[in-house]
Order: sequence, then C-alpha cells, then structure tokens
Amino acid sequence: MKDKNTFYITTPIYYPSDKLHIGHSYTTVAADAMARFKRLTGYDVMFLTGTDEHGQKIERVARENGVTPKEYVDGIVAGIKKLWKTLDISYDHFIRTTDPEHQKTVQKIFKKLYDQGDIYKSEYEGWYCTPCESFWTEVQLQDGKCPDCNREVELVKEESYFFRLSKYQDRLIKHIEEHEEFIQPPSRKNEMLNNFLRPGLEDLCVSRTSFKWGIPVTFDEDHVIYVWIDALSNYISALGYLSYNDEKFKKYWPADVHLVGKEIVRFHTIIWPAMLMALGEELPKQVFGHGWLILEGGKMSKSKGNVVDPLILEKRYGSDALRYFLLREVPFGSDGVFSNEALVNRINSDLANDLGNLLSRTVAMIDKYFDGIIPSQAVLEDVDKELIDLALATPKKVEELMDDLLFSNALAEIWKLIGRTNKYIDETMPWILAKSEEQKARLGTVLYNLAESLRFVSVLISPFMPVTPDKIRQQLGIEGLADLQSWDSLSQFGKIPSGTKVQRGNPIFPRLDINKELEELEKTLPTEGQKKDKQDKGKDSNKGKGKDSKKDTQEKAEITIDDFAKLDLRVARVIAAEKVENSDRLLKLQRKVGDETRQVVSGIAQHYTPEELIGKDLILVANLKPVKLRGNLSQGMILAASNGDGKLALITVDTEIEPGSTVS
Ligand code: MSP
Repeated sequence: MKDKNTFYITTPIYYPSDKLHIGHSYTTVAADAMARFKRLTGYDVMFLTGTDEHGQKIERVARENGVTPKEYVDGIVAGIKKLWKTLDISYDHFIRTTDPEHQKTVQKIFKKLYDQGDIYKSEYEGWYCTPCESFWTEVQLQDGKCPDCNREVELVKEESYFFRLSKYQDRLIKHIEEHEEFIQPPSRKNEMLNNFLRPGLEDLCVSRTSFKWGIPVTFDEDHVIYVWIDALSNYISALGYLSYNDEKFKKYWPADVHLVGKEIVRFHTIIWPAMLMALGEELPKQVFGHGWLILEGGKMSKSKGNVVDPLILEKRYGSDALRYFLLREVPFGSDGVFSNEALVNRINSDLANDLGNLLSRTVAMIDKYFDGIIPSQAVLEDVDKELIDLALATPKKVEELMDDLLFSNALAEIWKLIGRTNKYIDETMPWILAKSEEQKARLGTVLYNLAESLRFVSVLISPFMPVTPDKIRQQLGIEGLADLQSWDSLSQFGKIPSGTKVQRGNPIFPRLDINKELEELEKTLPTEGQKKDKQDKGKDSNKGKGKDSKKDTQEKAEITIDDFAKLDLRVARVIAAEKVENSDRLLKLQRKVGDETRQVVSGIAQHYTPEELIGKDLILVANLKPVKLRGNLSQGMILAASNGDGKLALITVDTEIEPGSTVS
C-alpha cells in the first residue's frame, strides 16, 4: 500500500526533437512547480520526465543525418537535459526508452500480456505513405491522402500483434464514471466517454515489422514493440517494475498525477489504464489534460515555423520570469495564446512593479530609517491585523488551489498578498511616520511587517520561481536561516529576528522598455517573412486541397550539395512490368542490377500501361529504404514530373546510356 506521504508526478516523455519549444516547456515547468510544491509541503516526491526515442521517424531522420538512431537520439537528449537544467527543472529521474532497464521491463510486460492471452497475433491493415514511411488509419487521412505530405497512400497489410483493448471497455467506463477525479478537467472526461469509449473500442496494434528501431518482441524477433506499450510503460519501468528491485514501484505507484497535453489524454485514459488492468496493477489517481500554448494563428509547430525558443527568452529574462509567465498567464486546463507583448507586460507589472519594487522600497526604508537593521514589531494597529491575517491565510488557499493544479489561481492568491502589502505602505505612509520621533516604534513595526510579509512571499513563490526567493532573502539578510524558509514557518507571522541586517541590492526584476524588448525579440524569432514563407510552403504541400493551391509555385527550402549527395540516383532500364493485383494505381517494374533483378512498385498505372514501359530507361532513387506495397517489395522510387492537375510524365535520359549509370 502506497504511503500517503508520497507524491508521484510525471510529464509525458518527449519525442526527441532538435528544438523543444516553449509549449513543451509549459508541461514540464508546471510539473516542476507541482513537484517543488509537494516537497515544500512535506511530501516524499518522485518527479519523472524523459524521452520517447523509438519509431520509424527517428530511424529515418537518423539515416538522413548519416548516423545511427542511438547516436542521433543521444545528441538530442543531451540538448533536452540542458534545457531542463536552464529552466531549473528538478526531476528526480529522467527516463529514456532506450535505457536497457526500460527495454527489459517492456519486453516482460509484452510477454506477460501475450502469455495470458491479452496480446495475440493477427494482421494489421493500414494506409501506408511510401515517402513518409508511415502508416495512417482511415480517420487520420486527409481527403484520402497522407496527412503529413498530402501524397497518395496505399492500403497495406502487415502481420502484427494486437492488444485486447476491447476486452477492457466496460471496466474502463465503470472506472471513469465512478472516479470523478480520474480524468481532469471534467470536460475531457466527457470527451473520452462519448467520443471513444461508448462508441466501442477496437483492439490495438502493438507491434511492427516494417522498421527495426524499437524494442524487439522477445519471442518473435521480426517484430518490434510499437509505440504505446513502449512509451506508456515508462511510468512504471522508471520505478523498477518487474525488475530485481521494485522498491520504488511499491513506494510510489500508483501515480498521483500524469500531466499530459490534451491530444494524448486519450492514450493515457484508455490504453494505459487498460494495460494496467491487464497487468493487475492499480490505475493512476489522475490524468490531467492541459491545454496548448498557441501563437496567434495556431498551435506551435516546427513545420509551421512558429515556434518560440525558451532558451532565447530565458537568456533575456531569466528562468524565473519565464516560469512565472507560463504558469500565471494561462489557466492550466485551457489553451492560451503566447505573445511577446504579454510576456514583457507581465514581467513589468507583476515582477518589476509589484514584487521587485516592494522589496526595493522595504529594504531602502529600513536602510534609511533604521541604518539597515530590521526593527522590532512593537506597536500593532488594526491595519496590521488585516495584512497579517491575509499572510497567514494565504498558504492554505494556495495549497487548495495547487491540489487542483490551478497554478494561475495559486499565483494570483500570492499576488493578492503582494498587492495588500503594497497597499499597506500607502496606508501607513512610513515617510510621514519618519518625520516624528514619537512614531519611531510605530514606523519600526510597519517596516518589520513589510519585511515579514516579503518573507512569506519568498516561501510561497519558491515552487514557481526557484531562484528569486534567495535574492529576496539576501536583501532581507535572512538567507542563512533555514527555519525561515519552510512551509511550517508560515504558521507564524513574526519570525524574522529583529536586529537582522538588510543588504541593499539591485532590483530583482529591472523594469523593461517594452518597445525596445519587442523589437529585440522580433529579431531573434523567425521573421514574419520567414514565417510566411514556411506557411506558404505548407499550403503548397497541400496541393489539390483548394482551387488555388494546385500548382507548386513555391520552391522547397534550400539544401546543400551534401544533402543532394545522399541520393543514389540511377538509370534503370525496365525489363518487365505488370499491374499489381487489386490496385488501380500500382505497377511492378523489374530492372537488372548485375546478375540480379530488382523490383520497384510505382503509382503510375493510371498514366502508363505495362507494355509502354518495357525497355524505357527511367531515373530511380536507388537507395530509398525498401518497403512492401500490397505485399510487393519495392526497392527504390521512380522519378516523374506532375503538374498538380493530374498530368504525369516519367523522367528519362535523352540518349542511350548503360543501365545503372549514376545521375548527378
Ligand atoms: N511521446 C509522446 C508522449 C508519450 S507519453 C507516454 C508525445 N511527445 S511530444 O513530444 O509530442 O509531446 C509531449 C508533450 O508536449 C505533450 O503533452 C504535448 O501536449 C505537449 N506539447 C507540445 N506542444 C505543445 C504546446 N504548444 N502547448 C502545450 N503543450 C504542448 O506526445
């Protein structure tokens, strides 16, 4: 039985991408704030993050970069870890799905589910896009074409293992209905029940034979474990599940909360609990689906060219300001728009004005009126009580809001205390009190209360902004006093020892010149021109969708001669050709390479008859990874020109040359 005093929180494991954008940082910063908050309030916390490193896409990108998949992901993961360090992410464990321990656990899970009949072998049928080397379901296709590149797809069959997801449907519905807190926010719960569970679940394909970069199925080595069993198991493999040492699993499982973006709530609230049910393990207590951070014009994505780089922002404003902005600006369950203007405005108003000025003024007045020595709290008045009561009430309110992952509201509560403290200065007018010697004790009380209120703030903000509290403490002269930094220390207002010497310092958040900042930020981010260019290219790749987008009027992004040199283009003489059975589009062509015959399958049947092609010298991309189309091996790709209106012309040579000649 899990100890009540433990808290297990996870982020999704990220696909290794060379640039994690601010949207990815959003989830991780939120999880970090929660983990820090729980540690502060006395929990034994396990905070897990990591990377999801397998799959065909990685295999392909690595090949394009001329490195092994592992070499490729190692480089990217190092960058991701660096980003988390820069943003002060205090994870307890970073899991990689390429970790040998993870792989072993996944293999054991797969075998266990197979042995008990929850995984069985069958045939997978899906829509395959040859250039993207990706399978798509009917629903994922856009206008019947590949959703990534908008090219034709083929219905392809592949032997696969399946997980009996359908078997768990009724138990899942029951669990979700009986556990209000399981899927949060509640709107996502209804979406899962109405859109996926009640209409009926299909069994899930959990292995592939079409690529190698995955965890092998131990009892059938042609298969690698595909996506979700590998990825989702990270949450328990990281705790040593099914390993020789599963103490952490016993201690921390079930997870208190999986934080995930809204588009993967489905996998975490259907596939994952069904897997756990099959394994006979407890389900996570909560899956929280947060919204997306979007830019005007849509979700950030690398292909759209509208990503915001957290490293650039961190460098200009520091990690605390960026973390504050992310957690304050957007209510956690909803989508929120990111803009540079909103960021700079928040820094100026909340951090420089409200908090930074409060500290500077307090320390400056203690310096001026008491030679830098914090006076004692001697003469209390009603107005003090209001401030003190609010300070003492704030921790509880913050804790309640944090328990519901309402980061923005929790920060708003803390800023109420900051606002009330600023108002207290206006109400008590220390500069007037300072004019009369008789008011010295009263002035001392006011300044003491200001300092103590700032101490409260320094503790309260520490989960959100890990660097700033020490800066506040240094200026107040209390940085060495650990018992003034604990959550419990907030049960008493009046803990700073009078007589403490303050240390005047620089403003903790210097005020920013908004126009200058916006100009500078514009320079560092993709320019409008670049963004537009990329968006236009995106549109062009959707050719055929709209009337005006039929022709490729824009050229693709520049490549180097080295990129081009990766292609092995050859002259291929067609020695035999025939139609592929049950396909209107596909022809099988044979060519000779030395003594061997090689086959290419090409979607040109509506433009050429097999007879017309025999003897033709075509141009072939010879080093494209072989794929099976309708069960026919295709080794390479024939080049053809098309005008987007359905016309197609094969590329050939203008004079006789030996087959196999290189093209460059
Ligand atoms: N690898 C899977 C998750 C497997 S978990 C067992 C994956 N990876 S991801 O890198 O594509 O996304 C990781 C997380 O980042 C997701 O929760 C996703 O919602 C989040 N975000 C990606 N872009 C985002 C925004 N623009 N805004 C907020 N979160 C975003 O999915």
